[in-house]
Amino acid sequence: ETPLLVDRFGRIARDLRVSITSACSLRCTYCMPAEGLPVVPRGELLTPEEIARLVTIAVHDLGVREVRFTGGEPLTRPDLVEIVRRTTTVVPGVPVSMTTNGIGLDRKAPQLVEAGLTRINVSLDTIDREHFAAVTRRDRLPAVLRGIESAQHAGLSPIKINAVALRETLEDAPDLLAWALANGVRLRFIEQMPLDADQTWRRDHLVSAEELLSVLGRRYRLTPAGREDPSAPAEEWLVEGGPATVGIIGSVTRSFCEACDRTRLTAEGSVRSCLFGDDETDLRTMLRSGADDAAIADAWRATMWDKQAGHGMDEKSFRRPARSMGAIGG
Ligand code: GTP
Ligand code: 5AD
Ligand code: SF4
Repeated sequence: ETPLLVDRFGRIARDLRVSITSACSLRCTYCMPAEGLPVVPRGELLTPEEIARLVTIAVHDLGVREVRFTGGEPLTRPDLVEIVRRTTTVVPGVPVSMTTNGIGLDRKAPQLVEAGLTRINVSLDTIDREHFAAVTRRDRLPAVLRGIESAQHAGLSPIKINAVALRETLEDAPDLLAWALANGVRLRFIEQMPLDADQTWRRDHLVSAEELLSVLGRRYRLTPAGREDPSAPAEEWLVEGGPATVGIIGSVTRSFCEACDRTRLTAEGSVRSCLFGDDETDLRTMLRSGADDAAIADAWRATMWDKQAGHGMDEKSFRRPARSMGAIGG
């Protein structure tokens, strides 16, 4: 029996993504219903101690090499700083990062750095305030920009910006890139995946990597620079010859599932081997009924062994996951 998180296709999961809540301060149309997701009772969320225990098992027994907190919005958890501190304490030397919408970072960035957070990625689809409010259903662009600035002051670097490529904001893309270049952050655009709650995603509405490149190309000269490493989801492009780059994550039209190295924990403490497919294994119940590390590691390995080949969006048999992005953890 192999100790690593290997699947039947030979992929090894080294990158752990831990959702810590499905609550959020925004309501992005591609991720959540307007009314938000059902509140998860506090007792069903993993505690900071439980998160630290599972991360320890992942790193020590299963070969995980980096940890990222996601949600929902991690900053909505009042104990986020404690979660980060406990995690960095149990696995010193392992990069611990977070994907966030930035709201509330202005108050928390220094404490997060002090707790050992290595890096953040901030979701921001447009810098047009009205378009931002339409996509996120909240008029909070100034709060996001304040959050990014505070994170820079606190020393978090590099900061990556994730922008989901949307029809409604496509014409804003060159302005967003100009803003990123002027502010020293690394921008990546992402093809939208069918993970919205309202099920309005249509393949023929997709803003593809190709279309996005052509819109950006009207203002900037872009030249291909490849991937940062083989399992990186983004293909990078030099802007005006470099050194700055812009990344494109072609989740749909240039899928990278064959190089996927991810394993996920949901906020309720279940392992998920892929964003897609609905197989989850409940580790929280095992934890709370006194299972030892070896038993938890075995259950985790067994779930990952069954990881599907890919999202299969191009196949007739494709079925959307039952949960939206905010509920699975991005
Ligand atoms: P870095 O280590 O900074 O490169 O982070 P990352 O790209 O792994 O994480 P981030 O949370 O910033 O995710 C970037 C985008 O990748 C997200 O916006 C998702 O749309 C997409 N993404 C995340 N996980 C998966 C996945 O498992 N499969 C696919 N197809 N896309 C994913
Ligand atoms: N498709 C692609 N990316 C998405 N995100 C949220 N929903 C979707 C979707 N349907 C992104 C967020 C965040 C990251 C974790 O996932 O913008 O940056
Ligand atoms: Fe919240 Fe992120 Fe989903 Fe937007 S994409 S609703 S910020 S979890």
